[in-house]
Amino acid sequence: MRNAIASFLIVALILPFATMAQKKNIPDPLKLARGVRVKTVDEWESIRRPEIRELFSRHMYGYSPAPPELSYRILSHDRDALDGKAIRKQVRVFFAPDTSVWMDILIYLPARKTSPVPVFLGMNFYGNQAVWNDPAILITPNWVDQNEVLGVENNRATEASRGVRSSRWPIDRILERGYGVATIYYGDVDPDFDDGFMNGVHGLFDKGNRTESSWGSIAAWAWGLQRALDYLVTDSDVDASKVAVLGHSRLGKAALWAGATDERFAMVISNESGEGGAALTRNEKGESLEQITTTFPHWFCSVYKSFAGRVNDLPFDQHMLLALVAPRPVYVASAVEDLWADPEGEFLSAVYAEPVYKLYGHKGLGTRKMPDVGKPLHEGRIGYHLREGKHDLTAYDWEQFMNFADKHWRTGK
Ligand code: GCU
Repeated sequence: MRNAIASFLIVALILPFATMAQKKNIPDPLKLARGVRVKTVDEWESIRRPEIRELFSRHMYGYSPAPPELSYRILSHDRDALDGKAIRKQVRVFFAPDTSVWMDILIYLPARKTSPVPVFLGMNFYGNQAVWNDPAILITPNWVDQNEVLGVENNRATEASRGVRSSRWPIDRILERGYGVATIYYGDVDPDFDDGFMNGVHGLFDKGNRTESSWGSIAAWAWGLQRALDYLVTDSDVDASKVAVLGHSRLGKAALWAGATDERFAMVISNESGEGGAALTRNEKGESLEQITTTFPHWFCSVYKSFAGRVNDLPFDQHMLLALVAPRPVYVASAVEDLWADPEGEFLSAVYAEPVYKLYGHKGLGTRKMPDVGKPLHEGRIGYHLREGKHDLTAYDWEQFMNFADKHWRTGK
């Protein structure tokens, strides 16, 4: 009886103090596969970080091909764009000597700049022409979709959808704040439907030789972002040491994988990337692993769906994806009504990534308490905000990203 009471007391008193991480069975980002805990930055960089990248590649996003030799064609270069406010460039990037697959990067830089500028790079959903009502933006012939049912806002790569997504790309404001912006249509890299990996860069590189750990579409988009960076670092108008990669939703998942695997990105920003992005899979709110791998089987390598219904067996969770960005600043944004992306799970990933930032001697998020709506956390190298409203990329989100960049890069106007 005494023992029973003692055990009851131990459970009652100790359990509330057990960290949430233990309760949720969250893998420790600093524990090596062989069980020993990482104690130095060197051990993290030489052993644990590669180990985690390998886990995500093998089980989730798939292995991507090595960067090919690229070639670039400058399609346009105007110094007097947007009523004199911008320099506009459009650059076609060819991925192979075979020039059938390419992507166009649309770049706007502040016209009045006196030195190379920091740039935000992100993919768009509807074609470069959709991000601003600028008649000079070229329209791609890749993955054109005239969606009669959903209306012109959802037309991909058509004249009718020119400018329809400008609320997601406040280019005038970005330029005013002293930043440049670069964007690519994700359909140039890999059209977003399940065609057995025949089109886009998969068709070009896989040649039908796929395994259960071959790259899926998220990895392909991430790879496209990295190839855009290959170009940007050669452009003397761009400050190559200050390129942030960002993305919304599925493209936020891609931005995270791009930034986690390429240290040249100086900052990584996830906007409402949810399941398969910033949200902790083990949080089991909003979209589930089973739902995402059923609806979008082409997004991941085929091993990933085998974890449906048994997420506790995953040898990683999404906080470790954020941790791969350390010590570079990483930002996670959620919206209150976007329950499908699981704001709480996104916040918890940011919390559990912190030990790796601390290993470097940096503050991560700096709190375990979810902030109030509209009260961003920008103190440490992990940033977070929860805004009012629905699933979207808004001017408010951009203001926070630029505030965070101003702070960490000491830039800004
Ligand atoms: C779907 C999907 C999400 C994804 C979103 C988007 O809702 O389930 O995982 O983030 O589309 O990309 O808009």
